[in-house]
Amino acid sequence: MKQTRIHCQAPAKLNLFLHVTGRRADGYHLLQTAFQLIDRCDTMDIAIRTDNAIVRTNDIPGVSAETDLIVRAAQLLQQHTRCQLGANLTLNKILPMGGGVGGGSSDAASTLIALNHLWQTELNKAELMQLGLQLGADVPFFIFGENAFAEGIGEELQVIQTPERWFVVIEPGVQVPTPAIFSAKELTRDSKPVRIADFSSTAEMFWKNDLQTVACALFPVVDEAVTWLSQFGNAKMTGSGACVFCAFADEAAADKVINQVPDRWVSWKAKALSRHPMADLL
Ligand code: C5P
Repeated sequence: MKQTRIHCQAPAKLNLFLHVTGRRADGYHLLQTAFQLIDRCDTMDIAIRTDNAIVRTNDIPGVSAETDLIVRAAQLLQQHTRCQLGANLTLNKILPMGGGVGGGSSDAASTLIALNHLWQTELNKAELMQLGLQLGADVPFFIFGENAFAEGIGEELQVIQTPERWFVVIEPGVQVPTPAIFSAKELTRDSKPVRIADFSSTAEMFWKNDLQTVACALFPVVDEAVTWLSQFGNAKMTGSGACVFCAFADEAAADKVINQVPDRWVSWKAKALSRHPMADLL
């Protein structure tokens, strides 16, 4: 019998480093980054509708249904494939918005993967990634489904192996607007490109997030979180912020740090994933 609903996971990502190497004519920035999937996830219930409506069934503070990336993702796939079916989308959001952990992009990617399966529209991974790029530069990575070294604006992906480990992530309590960070006059845009062959968990420690200086200047609380977490290791911001993370070899080491995070910040631990939880659907 044809499947009519699916429970989805939309994992967060961390940028293990992020170098801005240039700027395209359209204003988008050329980057090099390493994307790491982690086991902290938004969840969604997606069900087929026999009419062609796309409906988000729950309210999410701060994200109107019309502009929600999951609704736009469903509409995009529907238009692209001329599918006559619709969907009810219920999103349980735990990932912070404007946090740099890719929550919105991951929700959109999981929506595309799930609906491509339920609607039997049969786009392959490359086609779905191409479609996802229209929704945001990080969306193709979540469809790609494995940890990746990324170039271009984030859509040229190569698989990387990363160690099994745990991360402590601090949410400094601000939402960072990505366009404001990328458009800042002070942003360094000429990092010397690194080679994928040189990527390793040791090299990664010395490779920085070029967006961090600008984000810390605009949001001093991000700087405070980096400084606090740096006492335990190589703490960095992810994406354009605001979240800050540090890697640990095992869960016990991460727990020790979590227990000391000042009450003013939300914090959590997450395990490195080697594959996207929905990768089998593609
Ligand atoms: O693609 P996404 O919606 O995530 O990007 C948000 C904004 O961040 C873009 O409108 C652009 O201003 C900036 N950006 C950029 N270069 C990238 C990714 C994002 O300039 N590679």
